[in-house]
Amino acid sequence: MNAVTSPGVHWDPYDPKYFANPYPAFNRLREEAPLYYNAQYDFYAVSRYEDVERGLFDRDTFISGRGGILEIIKQNVPIPKGVFIFEDPPLHTMHRSLLTRVFTPKKMNALEPQIRAFCAKALDPLVEGGRFNFIDDLGAEMPLRVIGMLLGIPEEDLKSVQHQANEKLRTDPGKPKDFTDHQFVGEGFEEYLDWRVKHPSDDLMTELLNAEFTDETGTTRKLTRDEVLLFISILAGAGNETTNRLIGWTGKVLAEHPDQRRQIYENRALIPQAIEELLRFEPPGPSVGRYVAKDTEFHGQKVPEGSAILFLVGGANRDPRKFTSPDKFDIHRPRVPHLTFGYGFHSCLGNALARIEGRVALDELLNRFPEWDVDLENAHLSSTSTVRGWETLPAYTPKAGKAKPVAAAPVAEEAPSGERWKMVLKTPMGPQEMVMTMNRDGNSFTGRIDSPMGGEDISEGKIDGDKLSWVMNVTKPAKIKLSFEVTQEGDTLTGHAKLGMFGKSALTGERI
Ligand code: HEM
Repeated sequence: MNAVTSPGVHWDPYDPKYFANPYPAFNRLREEAPLYYNAQYDFYAVSRYEDVERGLFDRDTFISGRGGILEIIKQNVPIPKGVFIFEDPPLHTMHRSLLTRVFTPKKMNALEPQIRAFCAKALDPLVEGGRFNFIDDLGAEMPLRVIGMLLGIPEEDLKSVQHQANEKLRTDPGKPKDFTDHQFVGEGFEEYLDWRVKHPSDDLMTELLNAEFTDETGTTRKLTRDEVLLFISILAGAGNETTNRLIGWTGKVLAEHPDQRRQIYENRALIPQAIEELLRFEPPGPSVGRYVAKDTEFHGQKVPEGSAILFLVGGANRDPRKFTSPDKFDIHRPRVPHLTFGYGFHSCLGNALARIEGRVALDELLNRFPEWDVDLENAHLSSTSTVRGWETLPAYTPKAGKAKPVAAAPVAEEAPSGERWKMVLKTPMGPQEMVMTMNRDGNSFTGRIDSPMGGEDISEGKIDGDKLSWVMNVTKPAKIKLSFEVTQEGDTLTGHAKLGMFGKSALTGERI
């Protein structure tokens, strides 16, 4: 078995099943296929912390110039000059340094009172209602509004931009998005920009219009109108949906950890570390893509020039080599940097702003709702290709007496300790459904099978490439030995079980 083709380890970035809970797959990739190759979509992925860190730092081997999103890389989508998030040196260095000059932490920090005021305006009317929605009422509104504050764009002009930005990223579940006609410049800012040219202010847009820099030809000049529009579109695109998802995960994860939420409620000094842990635990962007510009290796396996590779931030953030009990949400864990904002030359320029937004949102939520339960039956996960999180997340507050217990999470936030397979055995008595939980250990495994008839431990679990076999001794309704032999192909099992004197019965299974 080699690292790349390790049988049975599978992850599909477009499959809603993984989208709902990628962590068991990430955990397996990290341990069993630290360099993973997905033949269906022809890409590589690494998931260990040190590999993700190395890859994001090595901008000569893993370039951004062909895009940072798998589909954009694979579809060879042309990227216009100035889309600096997808640029390499020297253009990236030039554009990023220009933006760093005007998009300063000081400017971001100065927005805090306005962000607070916005949260108050959004949340105050909901206090008496007994329910609110983390996304519809706050997450979908606040981040773009904040970019508007930064740029000096009024609320009404932002709405159409937001709609377009979200639609652009929306994918049909189960398949890659078609980016071939993608326009990188969002419409909607032009009119406002032209007005701002005539009415300068102390906002970021005016600064972008006036900032001088030396371009790639050695000419010192200002940005053109189109370049400013592009920069603004990138900021709006990068800072909107990501931060929205952070707010959603705040609602979901803290509802499921009421003891930690109570501690934060009582001691607001814990908010910064709570936001860091939320960012680690549920990164809004679980992967970052790159084009491989020259042959390279991970774990002794070659990754050829011309490949697409995904750096699985969501896997790295739960690497046990770096984080103790990584599947546990713990606001008190020792501070180890997560990779949610990327790493190296392209690392998130808006991280200070995103952190302020997350902290203020949580503080203002707790000021009004010390407790809440999330209504997962009516919540939906979003289906954008790069961002993972809630598209709508209703919540109940105990105030109006409508609180429900936290529903069982469709997304298990702690990865189960073993794999789970739902299987159907076609016995002479009719089809029998059963669930097998298994833990691999080299070429063997242990586990148990549960069915409506009861549960039994399995024995003699053996792994030989993609072949699995095991034995189960059933005692009820009759004493019988079942010997299973199956072949695993990705997330499916096919094979049979020998039922003592009853002969063979076909078995099919799929991973759950
Ligand atoms: C929780 C919220 C956010 C997350 C998880 C996030 C995540 C990231 C990540 C992973 C990257 C690196 C991409 C790469 O290496 O290819 C990035 C880059 C970037 N982010 Fe964020 N981001 C967030 C919020 C924001 C905000 C609020 C802004 C600004 C308003 C912003 C602006 C940018 C920009 C401009 C870049 C490109 C930097 C470059 O290419 O040099 N982000 N972000």
